[in-house]
Amino acid sequence: MIKLDIGLIGLGTVGGGVYSLLKRKKSILRERSGVSLNLVKVCDRDSGRRRALKVSTRQFTRNTKDIFQDVSIDVVIELIGGIHPAKEYIIEALRRGKNVITANKALLAECGTELFRTAAECNRKIFFEASVGGAVPVIKTLRESLIGNRVLSISGIVNGTSNYILTKMSQEGLDFGEALSLAKKMGYAEANPALDIEGIDAAHKLTILAMLAFGGEVRFRDVYRQGINNITASDIAFAREFGYVIKPLAIAKRTDEGIEARVHPTLLPEYHILAKVDGSFNGFLFRSDEAGEQLLYGRGAGSLPTASAVVSDLIDCANKKDSLVLLREKLRVKPIGTLSSRYYLRFSVIDKPGVLSAISGILGRHKVSISDVIQIERREGNFVPLIMITHEAMEDNVMKALGLIDRLRIVGRSPQVLRIGD
Ligand code: NDP
Ligand code: HSE
Repeated sequence: MIKLDIGLIGLGTVGGGVYSLLKRKKSILRERSGVSLNLVKVCDRDSGRRRALKVSTRQFTRNTKDIFQDVSIDVVIELIGGIHPAKEYIIEALRRGKNVITANKALLAECGTELFRTAAECNRKIFFEASVGGAVPVIKTLRESLIGNRVLSISGIVNGTSNYILTKMSQEGLDFGEALSLAKKMGYAEANPALDIEGIDAAHKLTILAMLAFGGEVRFRDVYRQGINNITASDIAFAREFGYVIKPLAIAKRTDEGIEARVHPTLLPEYHILAKVDGSFNGFLFRSDEAGEQLLYGRGAGSLPTASAVVSDLIDCANKKDSLVLLREKLRVKPIGTLSSRYYLRFSVIDKPGVLSAISGILGRHKVSISDVIQIERREGNFVPLIMITHEAMEDNVMKALGLIDRLRIVGRSPQVLRIGD
């Protein structure tokens, strides 16, 4: 029987889930894995968390030193989130000879290279299955199942909160604020939910996935992102009229000119496999040279689904599984302006003759051709919505054209622009 002595820092949504899972499943985990998981110390700055989870005063501390200085502890689980002091805690744990498990995608995306280097110097490991996809074994799939493959692309719904909000708006007619409050209540949202709705969390996750998939360093700041915070109920309804659903997509792709790495709400045809990934669920569609297409689906956020991934890391850690991240080179991320895509454009225009030709004329001069148009009679003040779907066009051209259209007197609010996935 292998014994693993554990220190847990952070007893919030995920940490609370880990605590309760370890308590309820201790004996079954021992039976199944041959590992005895022994939670030595639990730390949180808020003692209210201790009381809520009925952690004994002997096991609880508010001082992380009680964990770092305890030589019996083999592995530290960091579940406080954010960059500081999480980064310093992880480095301290590694330097004191402890392995680390974390769900902190923000930290890994922004400082992963430094942390992995420190772990290698200390001859210790960092496990991070819970950082992407919650319960979905997406890190394991990339590291283990697809090891004989060259991964060509990943398209995923990687942020449960954004997917939950868009699903609630689209299927139950909730407004954005109501849906976000529910996501917070369910424990899906980050402590700062701007990270979710502005696409930052998804970009963090995509950075991690792209590094693993393509074997090189990806700079988080190079990942393009657009949040879901300006998607309106009208966009959802218009997209539906054209046969699309709007999904918060993260896409990483190899191309001859570098990699594409982008996060943005995307119109997907209703029949697309990712269009059916609803609520807080995540979906990951991998394309690889040998395995072809592969879809992973499951709960990407929430207390117990994420705790389930942390526990699987504990077993891997006890079994001394490898967790090395090989970053051979710095990967060049293609600028978003070079993207070739179809677009959904929503204008707010004055309802009078010549408007359509003025707009389509500017688009045409920028090599953006239109495949479908609807103009809705419903007025929004002095304006009516005009929706266009384009053929494939270059992003730079679309943006230049929109800049000029935005200056026309016939146009009200700035145009909405969303990319269409295939
Ligand atoms: P929570 O905010 O619910 O929990 C964090 C806990 O850590 C809180 O109790 C917080 O206290 C405590 N804490 C913060 N700073 C310190 C500190 N310096 N020392 C001791 N305790 C501290 O966050 P989550 O559980 O939701 O998230 C934890 C991590 O897991 C994050 O990195 C997140 O991105 C990641 N994650 C979350 C998922 C989810 O579904 N929620 C899913 C996957 C990953 P206080 O409340 O006072 O701030
Ligand atoms: N806030 C994150 C999400 C948690 O909604 O996906 C899971 O990483």
